[in-house]
Amino acid sequence: MTIDEKVRKTLTELGVLDAAGVEALFAEVRSAMEQERSNLVSRGAASEAEREKLSKALRDRWLARKNGLLSKIDDQWLKTAAKDLKPFVGRNFNALRQESAALEVSALMQVVPLGLHVAIREESSFSDSASADVGHVTREVPQDPTLPGNRRPLGSLHPVTQIQREIEEIFLQLGFRIEGGPEIESVYYNFDALNIPESHPSRDDWDTFYVNSRTVLRTHTSPVQIRAMEKYGAPLYIIIPGKCYRHDNPDASHSPMFHQIEGLAIDTDITFADLKGTLDFFAKKLFGERIRTRFQPSFFPFTEPSGEVAISCIFCGGKGCRVCKESGWIEVMGCGMVHPQVLRNGGIDPEEYSGWAFGLGVDRFAMMKYDINDIQLFFQSDARFLEQFSA
Ligand code: PHE
Repeated sequence: MTIDEKVRKTLTELGVLDAAGVEALFAEVRSAMEQERSNLVSRGAASEAEREKLSKALRDRWLARKNGLLSKIDDQWLKTAAKDLKPFVGRNFNALRQESAALEVSALMQVVPLGLHVAIREESSFSDSASADVGHVTREVPQDPTLPGNRRPLGSLHPVTQIQREIEEIFLQLGFRIEGGPEIESVYYNFDALNIPESHPSRDDWDTFYVNSRTVLRTHTSPVQIRAMEKYGAPLYIIIPGKCYRHDNPDASHSPMFHQIEGLAIDTDITFADLKGTLDFFAKKLFGERIRTRFQPSFFPFTEPSGEVAISCIFCGGKGCRVCKESGWIEVMGCGMVHPQVLRNGGIDPEEYSGWAFGLGVDRFAMMKYDINDIQLFFQSDARFLEQFSA
């Protein structure tokens, strides 16, 4: 017999003749009420309007003055109760009336767009939670799986990273290994060990971020030359990609943080010809077979002789244009034969070994490769710019 049927009968007709029977009967009513309440709350509603309708229907079913379950219980069970049972029925009825305040469920019901119910019901059959046997939506799931999905776009490698990987790939094929070092570096590795004297302008406060008098943000990747020599000795074939820092005001071609790749080859009979050959091969691999390289004398304290490498302009092919300032050449890196004192500082005997080194700016390579005229664009994290480089 359902609750609805039971409330139409008197206690005598139901065979409830003692206090224990009254307790049991009201317990049954209370649990039916609680079940209906929690079912409705966890079911949710498709709209505000439906929510109001459903919660009103629940209240009316139980609390309506005319024909509400409680008023029927009042009429059929309490009013007609035998004298000796009346106090029990009265107490239970009052308790029930108090608990019926919980039927005010509207605020607890979640508005869940249509379509969810089916999907979640299917899902709940896999769970062992209490909601599974009830077969109702759990309130914890606020999304509507029937709406078009929120597509989270796949990211891509930053253009500077892409070029860095391309360059790494070329040198890896030549048998070089990738090495790294700290961005916060000692003055010793950044300058002294590289033969850069105290008086050198690059040690000036204006170029270098000093952390304290003995520590800097590395101004180039060259300190890793020394670290690698100490760590591995000779022979040594490495490239060193990484971030560097200089006290430059940001403009179209300068950024206080930028990227370099250092190259270092040390072996028993390394000559300048090896350096030229390697860098010419590298430039052709990266920019195409028609690219030519040009070496001009330069100066670095840690290489002797030192050179400046230019490639034939990749935009005009060497004829002269705005980008190469009509010269037909674009300077792309510094290089040279490792200074004997630098080898010594790294624990390598310059009588036995010789080596070459180069250093290039990755950001500038990326600017050339993608024809970008402002280095700042790389570091502004503007998705409209960056997504142009997704593969
Ligand atoms: N470290 C130099 C710079 O940052 C580049 C360089 C590296 C030059 C290796 C020669 C050899 O300008």
